[in-house]
Amino acid sequence: MSASCETGTSAKITATPRHGDPGDPGFTLTENADLKSRNTFHVDARARRLIEVTHAAAVPRLMTEASTHDIVGEAPLILGEGSNTLFVGDVAGTVLSLTLRGIDILDDDGSRASVRVAAGENWNAFVHWSLAQGLCGLENLALIPGSVGAAPIQNIGAYGVEIGEFVAHVECWDRLNATSIRLAASECEFSYRDSIFKRNPDRYIVTAVEFDLPRQRELHIDYAGIGDELIALGVTKPTPILVAEAVKRLRLRKLPSPAVVGNAGSFFKNPVVATSVAEALKQKRFAIPSWPVDSQSTKLSAAWLIEACGLKGYRDGDAGISDRHALVLVNHGNASGPQLLAVARKVADAVEQNFGISIEPEPRIVGATFR
Ligand code: FAD
Ligand code: EPU
Repeated sequence: MSASCETGTSAKITATPRHGDPGDPGFTLTENADLKSRNTFHVDARARRLIEVTHAAAVPRLMTEASTHDIVGEAPLILGEGSNTLFVGDVAGTVLSLTLRGIDILDDDGSRASVRVAAGENWNAFVHWSLAQGLCGLENLALIPGSVGAAPIQNIGAYGVEIGEFVAHVECWDRLNATSIRLAASECEFSYRDSIFKRNPDRYIVTAVEFDLPRQRELHIDYAGIGDELIALGVTKPTPILVAEAVKRLRLRKLPSPAVVGNAGSFFKNPVVATSVAEALKQKRFAIPSWPVDSQSTKLSAAWLIEACGLKGYRDGDAGISDRHALVLVNHGNASGPQLLAVARKVADAVEQNFGISIEPEPRIVGATFR
């Protein structure tokens, strides 16, 4: 189904000021910073230093000038909104948080627009901004938590769409070569929950993302559940805005909210295995959901594997697995990072023992390795 977006076809070009008063260094520094409210697991953690960058020009200065070298340290941890990060200990060095703001339409030919978004913008707010401008494509990605700067890191995806399809360029600071670069989408090596950024966590600092968004495109409403939500909404003629509303309802029904119970969404990636392995598993367990990836590999449902191990709703103290969705590791109250990690390891071990399938964590684990 093809649909144009609901609102007008020409968008106002906005420019958001990015520079502060003269003398403003473009960043703030907090010593011994509390990170509990900066991670959606709500675990206790502190950072020796937290630098919040408010102006893009401060990034190269912080990373290269001798005067700031000591406060930034060798390998600062980049933190967005902390919705895909598990702290398993304090950060001995520096956390760098980009609070850069601004959404600018760089070009608009009436059928598609090129939009530059600063790293510190909120992802869901940007999705709704784009839909309000009459731009399509991001509707299936509504309500994913986090910042725009983090979105390319694992090529965020949901309901059959990944952002890699709409990214034109990613602007970054390259720590290896100490220079600003602009990577084309083809250079970002996007794949399922992966990218060049995720594989090189200490190299790139994403400062802005440029998107190429159409004004008309086929809607992706075949993914399980979206059609039912549209029916429940009484929608007979879906538009991108209505699809975003259906996705929002679906997500709120399926996933626990971090505002209610600490979590980072799916804690494990769905494992991609050789199709022969998936077939052999299906011979024994016909019910496991699977999706073809290419001619040789198949993606399996990690949630199904975990639930089949009897671990959906499992709880050890305040750390556990959600009783709403088996892929979601939850903090019921005062679980620590190490307690959550212990539950996650128990889950992965059970899946390995019962099915011979290795499942890998999706979030960044700070202060420990998973295995
Ligand atoms: P953070 O947790 O702050 O950081 C994540 C990683 O990105 C870290 O390695 C960090 O160092 C790095 N990073 C952050 N910002 C930058 C930057 N500017 N430059 C370089 N590196 C950076 N994800 C999906 O893909 N699909 C979903 O459907 C989905 N649903 C979720 C539902 C819930 C309830 C939750 C809590 C999470 C969900 N997630 C989902 C995961 C999460 O929303 C995304 O991974 C999001 O992009 C993380 O953004 P963040 O700003 O919170 O990143
Ligand atoms: N399932 C179970 N038990 C459960 C939950 C699900 O067996 O408790 C089975 C269902 O039968 C369903 C299948 O798992 O058929 C898939 O479930 P769902 O549609 O919820 O998708 P998912 O594979 O569990 C993935 C992403 C989500 C994304 C949704 C929707 C990964 C790791 N997770 O979840 O992303 O929102 O699809 O597209 O790929 C995230 O990355 O944090 C995240 C939430």
